Amino acid sequence: MRGFFGKAVTAAAILAMTTSLARATDVEVLHWWTSGGEAAALNVLKDMLKGEGIGWVDMPVAGGGGEAAMTTLKARVNAGDPPTAVQMLGFDIQDWAEQGALGNLDDVAAKEGWDKVIPQAIQRFAKYDGHWVAAPVNLHSTNWVWINKAALDKTGLAAPTTWDELVAVLDKMKADGITPIAHGGQPWQDATMFDSLVLAEGVDFYKKAFVDLDPAALGGSQMAEAFNRLIKLSSYLDANFSNRDWNLASAMVIKGDAGMQFMGDWAKGEFLKAGQKPGTDFVCIRFPGTQGAVAFNSDEFAMFKVGDDKKAAQEAMASAIESPKFQSAFNVVKGSVPARTDVPDTAFDDCGKKGIADLAEANAKGTLVGSMAQGHAAPAAIKNAEYDIVTGAMNGKYKDGAEAAKALADAIAAAK
Ligand code: GAL
Repeated sequence: MRGFFGKAVTAAAILAMTTSLARATDVEVLHWWTSGGEAAALNVLKDMLKGEGIGWVDMPVAGGGGEAAMTTLKARVNAGDPPTAVQMLGFDIQDWAEQGALGNLDDVAAKEGWDKVIPQAIQRFAKYDGHWVAAPVNLHSTNWVWINKAALDKTGLAAPTTWDELVAVLDKMKADGITPIAHGGQPWQDATMFDSLVLAEGVDFYKKAFVDLDPAALGGSQMAEAFNRLIKLSSYLDANFSNRDWNLASAMVIKGDAGMQFMGDWAKGEFLKAGQKPGTDFVCIRFPGTQGAVAFNSDEFAMFKVGDDKKAAQEAMASAIESPKFQSAFNVVKGSVPARTDVPDTAFDDCGKKGIADLAEANAKGTLVGSMAQGHAAPAAIKNAEYDIVTGAMNGKYKDGAEAAKALADAIAAAK
């Protein structure tokens, strides 16, 4: 009898052990990479982890910019069951770290020398209080324009380098019978376009307004001009722009139904997924007037506090993400550039090479700024107040840019 009991216990113990072992080697990942290009990039990560014996439990929450994903995350954390790793942007990482929800990656970071190869601008978000809390995947940038090459050629004009040239190309595309600007009317996309317009007013102005939240800059004449230009650009959209997903806007440019899209370089992932080539099928340029400057965001996997059993998988995931091999393979597909400075640009296409060179230049010149639209300039409460005014301006709420700028200054004062 005793023998039987002993055996039963052993079997149960073994079962419990194998179950917990299986779980310990899995990572549950919350993310919003659901478009064709994003999913292709994510597969690079899944495959790499699989090769290292780490299982992937997928938790996708669609919605560019990650707002929906962040809502889901809150519910999971409130239920006491955070995922292992969560795609996250900028100030959101800092907010979760401040609440004590994130784990610590210092051991793996020290072992692999992350401090030396990951730029300060990225470390500023991946570290909290001097400790690594997130694994940076990449560096994206919002001040790009993606143009259909055939549509541009048809205008007989060169790729625009100034505001006036941009307007000339847009007018010509309109006359040619296509939608000049492919856009999705969602607050984060409106804000993405606005990032570029404010950056075109100058890097110092951008910092004063979006980072320092200076009331005079927020409500002044340069902000009014940026809003006037936003209102002007809104006249080049098609009738169905409202609430369109960003990747469907990219598809309009890919198909030639629209001329161009103002979007972060994740859009390139869609062009590549559709088999298009830069320089041949599409053209990538910096938003006119922002050449030499980079408004950035960095996708990072914030690591939540988990039991010791799951920590090894978390560290293995972080280590895989920071490997130069992954940084090249993933970012080539995603449209972003590596989060470390020592990855060769050899595998990247011309837009990727330009992105890497632009980043190095901006980093050296002090013209690298956190994207307002992507939560890298100010915390969520401020960002959401900015979204409201920008979307209002896109949709005819204000009689002119000056009125919108005043509304922006008031909204930020209230949100501060
Ligand atoms: C951004 C993210 C990018 C891209 C985009 C659209 O927030 O940084 O990686 O996925 O959303 O979903």
